[in-house]
Amino acid sequence: MKAVAVFPGSRETKVVDTEEPRITEPDQVTLRVLDVGICGTDWEICTFEYGTPPPGDDHLVLGHEALAEVVTAGSAVERFEPGDLVVPTVRRPCPHPGCLACRSGHQDYCYTGDFSERGIKEAHGYMAESVVDHERDLVLVQPDLRDVAVLTEPLTIAEKALGQILWMMRHRPPWLDPRTPGEERGRGLSALVLGIGPVGLLGAMTMVSAGFTTYVYSRELPPHPRTDLVGAIGATYVSTRNETFAELAERIGNVDVIYEAVGHSHFALEALEVLGTNGIYVLTGVPGLQAFVEADPARLMRTMVLKNQVLLGTVNAGADDFAAALRNLDLFRRRWPEAVRTLIAGRHPLERAAGLVLGRPAGIKTVISFDSAGG
Ligand code: BGC
Repeated sequence: MKAVAVFPGSRETKVVDTEEPRITEPDQVTLRVLDVGICGTDWEICTFEYGTPPPGDDHLVLGHEALAEVVTAGSAVERFEPGDLVVPTVRRPCPHPGCLACRSGHQDYCYTGDFSERGIKEAHGYMAESVVDHERDLVLVQPDLRDVAVLTEPLTIAEKALGQILWMMRHRPPWLDPRTPGEERGRGLSALVLGIGPVGLLGAMTMVSAGFTTYVYSRELPPHPRTDLVGAIGATYVSTRNETFAELAERIGNVDVIYEAVGHSHFALEALEVLGTNGIYVLTGVPGLQAFVEADPARLMRTMVLKNQVLLGTVNAGADDFAAALRNLDLFRRRWPEAVRTLIAGRHPLERAAGLVLGRPAGIKTVISFDSAGG
């Protein structure tokens, strides 16, 4: 079968012919891959700044944002049958008995760092015609989400973050949660999303649907397809070229939540200056090496203490976040059908993968498709 693999030794990314994986345990399924999204992490892997092949292998099969179809199910598989659509989670647990996070199925909180991640760290990914996974690592997708379910994995980042934001709002200042369950819990609060890549846009959709008055701040100057999309979902777009952080903060008032989705450390640090009183700052980017900057840690510390601020790093994601992402995707595509459609810039054959990953294509989410029926 064909797969797209990265060879750190020879510094190449290419299509390889490799053996089809087979089920070796009764709770595994064979999957036919349908769609795989490309993201900034893939770019970092293909530029050899990040990522590690499985032990003993000279290459890593790329791809961690996948949608696939079950082809065969092992004898102990209970939840899936051939024909089902599934999205795989990315992280697999570490082997250490003492890691309570991994031992309880929450490997996104792994203590040891010895987890693996499909398509990223020590485990092959999904940019291959066929893959094998354990039933426990898969989430069922309803058939009518076929066209958009490839967005599930990047959306889990926002889902996991939102879950923690709402938890903190319930348990921090009591007046932040006067609403009855079921109501939009962010109503009356502001959220500032940094960046209009797929993670930022999906984050903005998540914040808007949770009721936050949402602003998106990035470099691009409108009119631009991405800035149009921000308007279409009921958020406000502001370009860094038109307003400084300070001007933006003045317009917003108290900035209750900042959701960083740029991975640019200097910009992220600058934004901390405008986080409001009792605010929560969520960092989602995994930047490569960037130039050193001077900071004023005393001022930073003083502000964070005196304003009761939270700085939260979050790496996606657990099975619950995947399930929540699928529920929200369904909601988003009913509420903003055109916007969700335009999130997927195009579907391309795997032969184009290396060029697309390295070329940073202009569209929003670029997808490698193994199935002509899906395009
Ligand atoms: C992936 C996550 C992964 C992270 C760090 C992100 O691009 O979406 O699943 O944990 O990279 O490797």
